[in-house]
Amino acid sequence: MKIAIISSSVRANRDGARVALFTKNILETKNWETTLLDPMELDFPLLTLMFKQMTNPEEKYKTVHKILDEADGFVLVTAEYNHSVPPALKNLLDYYREEYYWKPSGIISYSSGPFGGVRATEHLRNICAELKCLAIPTSLPISKVHESINEDGTSVSGDYERRAKKFLDEFEWYLEALKNQRDKKKPY
Ligand SMILES: Cc1cc2nc3c(=O)[nH]c(=O)nc-3n(C[C@H](O)[C@H](O)[C@H](O)COP(=O)(O)O)c2cc1C
Repeated sequence: MKIAIISSSVRANRDGARVALFTKNILETKNWETTLLDPMELDFPLLTLMFKQMTNPEEKYKTVHKILDEADGFVLVTAEYNHSVPPALKNLLDYYREEYYWKPSGIISYSSGPFGGVRATEHLRNICAELKCLAIPTSLPISKVHESINEDGTSVSGDYERRAKKFLDEFEWYLEALKNQRDKKKPY
């Protein structure tokens, strides 16, 4: 399976870099092929035209289109800003549309506080529904991210790798189910 990881933060000294690495590490335990789409590296401006509306898109927009289009599913790594998703994640998601259709997404959230970004997750579920890449029921919230995840993308106590198992097994189930169905037919 090919999985596109989409991260959310472009903040100076962001914690998101270590969570993106943690995400890559846990997904690779399933031998999936992963690609990280990092809004900081991609540096997409605030949306004025969606990819499909561009007449002569720059290479970076075409590259992201191909990665999203070829992906079997998405793992969204979201921080929580004022109880919602960081604007860079929403901006990146908004550039594309059909690329997401009929594929599952999984949400890994984090925050510096005790709730691990669960309120951002709930907003992101609605966004995923509109993009037809429904978020799987189990999410993976990471509390006190600066104390929980090391810079090399491992968790301090090993707890989060253990908690990830249910998330990964469920995501795998949805990946297979939706791939089988996409191979048969798409709704439209
Ligand atoms: C604009 C802004 C809003 C925030 N709002 C919340 C919030 O609603 N809930 C929360 O738990 N943490 C909040 N935080 C703290 C973030 O969880 C924490 O800074 C986290 O490290 C952000 O991820 P990042 O470093 O990858 O950008 C906020 C941080 C910023 C910068």
